[in-house]
Amino acid sequence: MTAPDPVVSVLLDPGWASGALVADVRRGLGERPLRLPPKWLYDDRGSELFDRITRLDAYYPFRAERAIFQRHAAEIAAACDATTLVELGSGTSEKTRLLLDALHDTGRLRRFVPLDVSEGTLRQAAADLSARFPEVAVEAVVGDFTLHLGQLPHGDPSEGGGRLVAFLGGTIGNLYVEERAAFLGALADSLEPGEWLLLGTDLVKSADRLVAAYDDAGGLTAAFVGNCLLVLNRELGADFDPDAYRYVPFWDPTLERMDLRLRAEVPQRVSIPGADLVVDVGLGEEIQVEISTKFRPDGVRRELGVAGFEVTATWTDPDGDFALTLARRR
Ligand code: SAH
Ligand code: TRP
Repeated sequence: MTAPDPVVSVLLDPGWASGALVADVRRGLGERPLRLPPKWLYDDRGSELFDRITRLDAYYPFRAERAIFQRHAAEIAAACDATTLVELGSGTSEKTRLLLDALHDTGRLRRFVPLDVSEGTLRQAAADLSARFPEVAVEAVVGDFTLHLGQLPHGDPSEGGGRLVAFLGGTIGNLYVEERAAFLGALADSLEPGEWLLLGTDLVKSADRLVAAYDDAGGLTAAFVGNCLLVLNRELGADFDPDAYRYVPFWDPTLERMDLRLRAEVPQRVSIPGADLVVDVGLGEEIQVEISTKFRPDGVRRELGVAGFEVTATWTDPDGDFALTLARRR
């Protein structure tokens, strides 16, 4: 049987990448401390590097979350009545396949809507998934989950069930605390009462294991984080010398998050013509590229409650490293 082609809608207009990138760069590099928003890590090269990181031994979050799906996907599928699965920041949707299998086995699944900014990765995943689940309509969205939640397809009342939104990989931990509250509020606003969220969060654990997960000896993670400079060089004609920066990840025990930075080992005047900006980066000055917040189950429940969700179940992997929380829009 030939698989139907997936539908791909593009919500990011062609000028979007450069337009939004310019705004982010002006804001982030136009003041101190220097900061860049992490969605710019995921061009084709960044997505490829991230995919390789997920296979590193020390990068436990991917395997831990997958282990939860391996043991509990059927339970998760049975615990909610959704007919549409939406996935935000879906990437390759590799772990999601386990959930799709389980939802498919319930006989209810009609539609899968993966959304990601990384168009190439998304198109490939959508094509693979429509081949694997020919009777499920795959409607991929090239979009930004901080901007486009209001434009997600709605559940079809004739199907009798609503949506389940999966947000996996601990990606919520990459948002700053105020962005996280805004994101959860906007997500709640975009859902109908009774619709579902399945949230993947990495849990607080020893600093040693955390640092090891974000600083592999082979330098893959450093290359991934450093990729943001190459994106600026390519998209905005900037002249960052990537070799002048050292990757410095550290665990912040107060804010309970990994803080991933690039530190200038050589002072440099950087010009970024596409953003009409010149930045003097001093010796030892740091660019904050990304955080990866770690959570505690109580905190997840509290934040979801404030946003308008009620937690109905939580699953963790056997080592207690990672959690999947199922919550219902009140
Ligand atoms: N969910 C996958 C991938 C996690 S990596 C997993 O669990 O393995 C984070 C993904 O989110 C990447 O695919 C990246 O392209 C995407 N992403 C990051 N910021 C985004 C944004 N603002 N809007 C949409 N997708 C985003
Ligand atoms: N969301 C994942 C995490 O926080 C993926 C990720 C983001 C990541 N930035 C990273 C993984 C840097 C390794 C290095 O873990």
